[in-house]
Amino acid sequence: MKVTVVGAGGNVGSTVAYTIAERDFAKEVVMVDLEKKVDDKTFYPSKGRALDQWETAPIVGFDTRLKGTVNYEDTKDSDVCVITAGIPRKPGMSRDDLLEINGNIVKSVSEQLVKHSPDTIIIVVSNPLDVMTYAAHAASGLDSKKVMGMAGILDTARYRAFLAEALDVSPKDIQALLMGGHGDTMVPLPRYTTVSGIPVTQLIDSDKLDAIVERTKKGGGEIVGLMGTSAWYAPGAAAAQMVEAIMLDQNRIFPCCALLNGEYGINDLFLGVPVKLGKGGIKEIIEVDLDESETELLRASEKAVRGTVDDFKSLMDK
Ligand code: LAC
Repeated sequence: MKVTVVGAGGNVGSTVAYTIAERDFAKEVVMVDLEKKVDDKTFYPSKGRALDQWETAPIVGFDTRLKGTVNYEDTKDSDVCVITAGIPRKPGMSRDDLLEINGNIVKSVSEQLVKHSPDTIIIVVSNPLDVMTYAAHAASGLDSKKVMGMAGILDTARYRAFLAEALDVSPKDIQALLMGGHGDTMVPLPRYTTVSGIPVTQLIDSDKLDAIVERTKKGGGEIVGLMGTSAWYAPGAAAAQMVEAIMLDQNRIFPCCALLNGEYGINDLFLGVPVKLGKGGIKEIIEVDLDESETELLRASEKAVRGTVDDFKSLMDK
């Protein structure tokens, strides 16, 4: 079983690769990135990171081979490819500010990947996430079951981490669902949040819960504000969890960015929804009941993401 991570000379990509290696379920992880020229010297960040990570194998104890490269031929016959390539946010930038530059990168990366692995599955991590997933689907020509975006696992992980802290319980016991786009219009669903089966609303005041929901929506920005660049540990771990679910055919239920064709009354749009993830990619899109206010929030998120997709389409038509 072979996984390719593009953008693996960067923080998110190398974290995806390393999380996969540590879990030791893949035979090989190919880490692709561009070479980097500084003055008259040429550096190879993906090769350096791969070598450094591989050198931990005897200590940490895994067999997964990590290989750095600048050449897409080395990605041949990958079962799953993760795209993290693109520029990250800087303070003051929204995810949408990255539209044109990351759109062109994701388009050309997707084309390269399917050229060498025509049956692969693509997981997009680059921002703005929902639009970049659309771009990868359009450029790759793959079936929509095989193209998805990572955002919901990251956003619910933040929500679960904040709840675990507030309730002083194990984050492992918090189950939660979140839908919509990866941005300020994301829709955390307290009604579908439990602590070992106990509805969270029985354990926390609504004011505190509202504050956690708001903090979750701005969770990416909180990290950018602290570090001057965007997060990588949680995004990397989240993407690796999707790869694992697919490669081990786990049928995990995760919120992922998937193409909707009528589900939730939404057509022809990539948006975050609960899916069943296993061999072959998305096996099912799960439609949960939403009340009036939840539906309204999802519609607002749909509108925001559709607006950005339309902006992207006109940029690309120019
Ligand atoms: C974040 C970026 C990766 O939410 O979108 O941290």
